[in-house]
Amino acid sequence: MQEIRTALTYDDVLLVPQKSELKSRKDTDVSTQLTKNIKINIPLVPANMDTVTESKMAIAMAYLGSVGIIHRFCDIDYQVKEVKKVKRKQNVIIDNPFTINPQATLKEVRAKILEHNCQSFLVSENGQDLLGIITSRDMDFVTDENTKVLDMMTPKEKLITAPVGIDIEKAKEILSQNKIEKLPVVDSAFRIRGLITATDIIRNYNNGHASKDAKGRLLVGAAVGAGDDFMERVKALVEAEVDILVVDIAHGHSVNAMEAIKTIKTQYPSIEVIGGNVATAQGAKDLILAGADAIKVGIGPGSICTTRITTGFGIPQLSAILNCAPVCQQYNIPLIADGGVKQPGDLVKALAAGADSVMMGGQFSGTEETPGAVLSYRGQQYKISRGMASLTAALSRPNAKEKIEDVTPEGVEARVPFKGPAKNVVNLYVGGLRSGLSYANAHNIKELQAHAQFIRITAAGMTESHSHDNQVL
Ligand code: XMP
Repeated sequence: MQEIRTALTYDDVLLVPQKSELKSRKDTDVSTQLTKNIKINIPLVPANMDTVTESKMAIAMAYLGSVGIIHRFCDIDYQVKEVKKVKRKQNVIIDNPFTINPQATLKEVRAKILEHNCQSFLVSENGQDLLGIITSRDMDFVTDENTKVLDMMTPKEKLITAPVGIDIEKAKEILSQNKIEKLPVVDSAFRIRGLITATDIIRNYNNGHASKDAKGRLLVGAAVGAGDDFMERVKALVEAEVDILVVDIAHGHSVNAMEAIKTIKTQYPSIEVIGGNVATAQGAKDLILAGADAIKVGIGPGSICTTRITTGFGIPQLSAILNCAPVCQQYNIPLIADGGVKQPGDLVKALAAGADSVMMGGQFSGTEETPGAVLSYRGQQYKISRGMASLTAALSRPNAKEKIEDVTPEGVEARVPFKGPAKNVVNLYVGGLRSGLSYANAHNIKELQAHAQFIRITAAGMTESHSHDNQVL
């Protein structure tokens, strides 16, 4: 019989404290490579799950210095719109601003505001010639839902506009001197060529910490599968200017996943592609050789996962990271440890074991920015979290053909307490990490990895680690 190896997870180990030369936790740098060419300022990524990451989460995380990956459990159109919402959120000059017809009613404007998450529109009949602008202020006191845009807008004659090619300092001056918030950019024939907004300028100047592309727009990723229509999805996402694609396959060490990565990298070499999920050195190596710019590691550690129970397969997460990290380091490809994180110490252990960043679903679920409503039950507020291979997720996929009795779930649905903004989770985890770095005498994640000494602990050690012999308030 073969020798059976032991594999470990976060709770099985602790890190040995080191003599520290750090004067303050503030001296630590928690930035990291998410992919070969994309650096982020915090090593925490929300999971590409439909109860965790859509545009709201992606925007919040990009401002906090990370990136959100829009999940793929929706039709292509929906996912593309979510990507566009992030790309448009912060744009010093919006190249193709939304327009609305002068004959549209207040009701239609309100619907468009919700659809595009945008508070004002340029008015045009043909999408080119500028007739005016309508902002939320123009609508504040209008009660008749049938009022036409034409009767509410600031018309062309009263508009302050900017010429094509205006620089941002000049635009700032015009906005502040005229106490206006929107500055349409027009050509000599008064055709729409862009829009500059005060909010975008303020955001762009005050958020050096945010994750941005070369044009100053927020970074965003999107997940794709490897099934029939995946290249159609990839094409639409690339056209929407997505920055990162995740080839999101539960068993990523598969010919399908490798071919998908290869095809995407061949057709779109400038897009960063994350491949996964794997849990073995060979799995990581095969995806790297297929062209992946980062590897996502984790088979079955997730809070809502039952893959290990349903299939008997998986590797406890710390060992999975230890398996893959040497290969990732050899090829200089970042490792994203995906799933199983329950507390900030697990983040520190994952990074110490060789991960460059950590993906979390359960810990971000229940935050304000996740999709879905806040539910009340017995006086407590909750949100829903579900595995992407859970029964309800399988049945609600676009074009789902399976009947309930055909589904073999590998995930569950869960109720999680409402947690407020995602920023709270980030602060807790980044705080724990900075403290962890000081215990490791490390100024950054690379030093943490170099200094890390794990020890294996017993169940008694684990009990001692948690608060004990009292009633926690
Ligand atoms: P956490 O522990 O952070 O894990 O909630 C999030 C990760 O779990 C994976 N995932 C699943 N795995 N069945 C699984 O076996 C599922 O239904 C499922 N849904 C998500 C995924 O990698 C995610 O990032």
